[in-house]
Amino acid sequence: MRAVAVYPAKREVRVVDHPEPKITSGTQARMRVLDVGVCGTDRDIVSFEYGTPPEGSEYLIIGHESLSEVVEAGPQVSKVKPGDLVVMTVRRPCPHPSCVACREGRQDFCYTGDFTERGIKQNHGYMTEFVVEEERYLHLVPRGLRDVAVLVEPLTIAEKSLEQLWAVQRRVPWEHRRCAVVLGAGPVGILGAMALKIEGFEVSVYSRSPNHEEKNSILNAIGAQYIAAETHSSEDMAKIAGSIDVVYEATGASSVAFDVLKHLGPNAVFVFTGVPGRGGPIPVDTDEIMRNMVLNNQVVLGSVNAPPHAFQSAIQHLGIFAQRWPETLRSLITARFPLERALDALQIHPDGVKNVVAVAS
Ligand code: BGC
Ligand code: ZN
Repeated sequence: MRAVAVYPAKREVRVVDHPEPKITSGTQARMRVLDVGVCGTDRDIVSFEYGTPPEGSEYLIIGHESLSEVVEAGPQVSKVKPGDLVVMTVRRPCPHPSCVACREGRQDFCYTGDFTERGIKQNHGYMTEFVVEEERYLHLVPRGLRDVAVLVEPLTIAEKSLEQLWAVQRRVPWEHRRCAVVLGAGPVGILGAMALKIEGFEVSVYSRSPNHEEKNSILNAIGAQYIAAETHSSEDMAKIAGSIDVVYEATGASSVAFDVLKHLGPNAVFVFTGVPGRGGPIPVDTDEIMRNMVLNNQVVLGSVNAPPHAFQSAIQHLGIFAQRWPETLRSLITARFPLERALDALQIHPDGVKNVVAVAS
């Protein structure tokens, strides 16, 4: 079968012929891949800055944001049947008995670093025709979400962040605290803004974007306010947004993030989800940041990957988005490319939001 593979040692990316996987245990299912979304992580992998092939393989099949259809289910599979639509999680547990996180199915909190990630780290991904997977890593998606379900995985990044936010804020009475700022207007930022809206926040999105008009109209449609970073300093942004209770960072632009950190309100939480490249050092006023954090009881946390229940919440939220903002949600998928044109899908389109490789229809 065809697959999009990256060869880090040879610095090559191409469509290869890869052996079709077969079910090897009763608890597995075989899927036909329909859609695979591409994100910044994939772009880093095809630029050879990130990503590791499985042990013994020269190449890694990329792709971790997927939607597939079950074509065959092992005898012990009970949650899904042929014809069902499913989204697969990304991370698989490390093998160490002492890792309590992985042993409890919380590999998103793996202690050892020996986890694998499909399409990213030592485990082939989904940008191919068929995939076999254990039932416990599959999440059933309603047919009605066929067109947009490839957005489930990027939305899980926000869902895990929200889970962390609720857990952290149990420390403080904050019912009336409702102002959220999202940094970045890419797919993870926009989907996060939608989730924060549904959760009742006033949402402002602060972003440097190559296409302000499009981002502005998407965010207006969901009732969020767009603030352009080129024309507004972080001080201006903080004045417009109001007293900030939550920042959801979704760009990996660390200088902007640390700039915004100075403007958090009392008892605020700042969640980092972007992974910056290794640029040079950037000066920051550490005294100011530390002083504010202590005197205002603030929390900064990092969040990566997502647990199974975040996939469930993402599927639920996506259903709500699809009812409330059907056009806007569909417009987040800018273009669909056939597998042969996966390399075009990996290019950044300045006016686009999410590119998708449509492997099958
Ligand atoms: C994926 C996560 C993954 C992270 C780090 C992100 O793009 O959505 O599942 O944990 O990259 O590899
Ligand atoms: Zn991704």
